[in-house]
Amino acid sequence: MSSLLSCFGCCGGSEETQNPPHTNSERQTTGSKVERQQKNATSTVTEKEATSGKERSVVASEKTHKAKVLIIYYTTYGHIKKLADRVKEGLEKSGNCDIELFQVPETLSQDVLKLLGAPPKPDDPVLTFEKHNKLAEADGFIFGFPTRFGAACAQMKAFFDSLGHLWQNGALNGKLASFFFSTGTQGGGQETTAWTAISQLAHLGLLYVPCGYTFGSEMFSFEEPHGGSPYGPGTYAGADGSRQPSPYEVQYAEHLGKYFATVIQRFH
Ligand SMILES: Cc1cc2nc3c(=O)[nH]c(=O)nc-3n(C[C@H](O)[C@H](O)[C@H](O)COP(=O)(O)O)c2cc1C
Repeated sequence: MSSLLSCFGCCGGSEETQNPPHTNSERQTTGSKVERQQKNATSTVTEKEATSGKERSVVASEKTHKAKVLIIYYTTYGHIKKLADRVKEGLEKSGNCDIELFQVPETLSQDVLKLLGAPPKPDDPVLTFEKHNKLAEADGFIFGFPTRFGAACAQMKAFFDSLGHLWQNGALNGKLASFFFSTGTQGGGQETTAWTAISQLAHLGLLYVPCGYTFGSEMFSFEEPHGGSPYGPGTYAGADGSRQPSPYEVQYAEHLGKYFATVIQRFH
């Protein structure tokens, strides 16, 4: 039981592989943790200097280091891709983030995709296992996914499942993460999709950044139907997928990018 708890089998875990199950204390001293400790040390010095009123130029130059943010999404019909592009615009407008946009690998066969009437995939690169180092190097993630039966699509869940090796060495602990999402209909899972995905973040040690009500008073409006909630931006695709993200929904997606950039600067 203890070996099960300490390893999902992703690190080999045998003496032959020279890669024994990791202990909790080993986890705390690997990769990103050390980097974070170094960053923390820097900010402690910075704070001291700032409070003494000296060396303000040092403070400013250290703040110019950009946060690395990955937008990671899955889409079948393109709604989530539209939101992903607007989230990226919001991050870009902040001017303080290095941004990369990725799709997660498809898990359905071409036959099933054809039956679903899925158009060709967007051009954005696919975040395959070989590129997982990007996750360890990043400071934050914004995940976008459509609803399947009231929860995140299996492609996104399979992607989270593939991160066992990063979970195992604690590489994602303390990084920030947000969501955006899409459902066919009202009541089809706008809130449950985000809510149930939070468990993925908790286990990976990621800090959830909800938008709350920061998008403003229109969040309270009944004037027109719109997706999104305090959990993040969202859109309705309609039962046949023909509805496109509304101006409100794409503006909220852009707001998420800007808001995330503000929050990550506080932690960075
Ligand atoms: C197998 C399957 C299950 C779905 N389940 C739901 C659901 O439970 N609730 C809902 O509102 N929409 C559901 N949908 C509709 C999708 O959420 C919708 O097509 C998607 O949000 C569109 O986003 P995309 O264009 O980025 O793929 C489902 C679609 C498929 C293909």
